[in-house]
Amino acid sequence: MHQFSYKNGTLHCERVALNQIADQYGTPTFVYSRNTILNDLDEFQHAFEGVDVHIAYAVKACSNGAILRLMAQRGCGFDIVSGGELWRVIRAGGNPALCTYAGVAKTEPEIRYALSSGIYCFICESENELREIDRIAAEIGTVAPVAVRVNPNVDAHTHKYITTGTNENKFGVDISRIESLYAEIAAQMHHLRIRGIQMHIGSQLTDVTPFVMAVEKIAPIAARLKETYGIEFWSIGGGIGIIYDGCLASGEKKWWDEHPQQITIQSYAQALIPLLKPLGLRILLEPGRRLVGNAAVMLTRCVYEKKGESKLFKMIDAGMNDIIRPALYEGYHEIWPVRQHRDDLVVADIVGPICESGDFQAQNRSIPDVKPGELLAEMSAGAYGFSMSSTYNSRPLAAEVMVDGDKVTLIRRRQTLEQLVEDEILPID
Ligand code: LLP
Repeated sequence: MHQFSYKNGTLHCERVALNQIADQYGTPTFVYSRNTILNDLDEFQHAFEGVDVHIAYAVKACSNGAILRLMAQRGCGFDIVSGGELWRVIRAGGNPALCTYAGVAKTEPEIRYALSSGIYCFICESENELREIDRIAAEIGTVAPVAVRVNPNVDAHTHKYITTGTNENKFGVDISRIESLYAEIAAQMHHLRIRGIQMHIGSQLTDVTPFVMAVEKIAPIAARLKETYGIEFWSIGGGIGIIYDGCLASGEKKWWDEHPQQITIQSYAQALIPLLKPLGLRILLEPGRRLVGNAAVMLTRCVYEKKGESKLFKMIDAGMNDIIRPALYEGYHEIWPVRQHRDDLVVADIVGPICESGDFQAQNRSIPDVKPGELLAEMSAGAYGFSMSSTYNSRPLAAEVMVDGDKVTLIRRRQTLEQLVEDEILPID
C-alpha cells in the first residue's frame, strides 16, 4: 500500500503535509514516497521463495537518479532501453553488469557503449539486430552476451498502445521461429554468447492469466535452450498492473476488497512459482509501474474555474506536458484535494493550460468542489509520469521531491526558462 493519507484534514505523503511541499517548491511538483517504493521492492524480493529471482527495474517508468540510486542500493539490476538509460544508471551508481538492454532499434553507438560498459545481456528483438551486434563485437574483438526476446502471441488485455506480446506488435521474435534463430546464433554468430531468453507481454495487466499463459508457452522452450546452449536466465518481463481507481479508499474499506480481481505481487508470484521453479534458471523480473506507480503524486494548483454551457471546468497549473497518460492512453488518475473536503461533490473536467482539447487530467469526474488557489494531488503519478513529460508550450519541466518519513529531499529542481532554451542557437544576422 502507498503512504499518502489524510491527517488532520490535510493530505500527507508519509509524515509531510503536501501543502508544505507546495509552499517550498511550488507546483506542479512530483512527490515520491521513499518508503512506499522500499516496501513494494521488499515484497517483490521475498515473494518468490525458492526461485532465484532478481529485479531488473524498468528505468523508463521513472528515471530520476535518486530513484535509480535507491534501487541500486537495494540490489536491483535494471531493464534499460537506450544508451541514455544506461548512462543514467551508471551515473546513479547502478551496476552495468546487472543491466539487460532491450529495444527494437539499438544504434551502433549505443551497442558500442553497452559493450564497453560490460552490461549483463543484450535483449535482441530481431535477427538483423543480432547480426549487427555480432559484427560490432567482432570489430572490437569481444564477445557480446545475448538473449532473444520471444513474442509468445498472448493477448495481455490491456490498452492497445501498451500491449506488446502479440503477432501484431513490433516486439520480439515469433515463437515459431525462436529455436531456429538460437541455432543460427550458435552456428554462425561467433562473437555472440547465448546467455538467456526474455519476454514481455504488455503493461498494466490486471489479471495473472495472460502471464500464466505466456509462461506456460515459453517454459518448455526455455528448458530446451538451457539443455542445448546452457542459458542461465529467463527474464519474464514486467507488466504487473496497479490500482489507479480506488487507491485512496477510506480506512474501513481497502482497495483489495473493492477490486478482488486485482493482481498483487503475491498472486503473481504464487501463480508463477510452480511453473518457474522446476526450470532451475535465474529468473529476472522487470517491474516498472508496480514499483513506483502508486508511490508518487503530482501536486498541482487549481488556478481558475469556469462554468461552460454544458460543463464545469477546473483549470490547473499542470498540463498534458506534465502527465500525458490521460491524453495518450485514456489513463485514469484519481484527483484528490490536499485540504480534505466533506460532502460537496461536483462533476467537472480538470483541464490544464495547454492549447489542446486533449489537455485534460480528468473528464466528467465527481470531485470535491475545489476552488481556485486550492491544491490538488493527482494520484499514482510515479510511473510514466515525469518520465514522459515534455516542455510542450514552452513549459519548464516540473520539480521532483522525495519524502522519507518527515524528511523532504529535492531530487530535481524545477527547470528554469534559461534551461528551457539553453541548447537553442539563435542565428547571427
Ligand atoms: N520490460 C519491458 C521490455 C518493457 O517494454 C516494459 C514497459 C517494462 C519491462 C515495464 O513494464 P511495467 O512493469 O512498467 O508495466 N507509458 C505507458 C507504459 C509503457 C510501458 C512500456 N514498456 C503507460 O503510461 O501506461
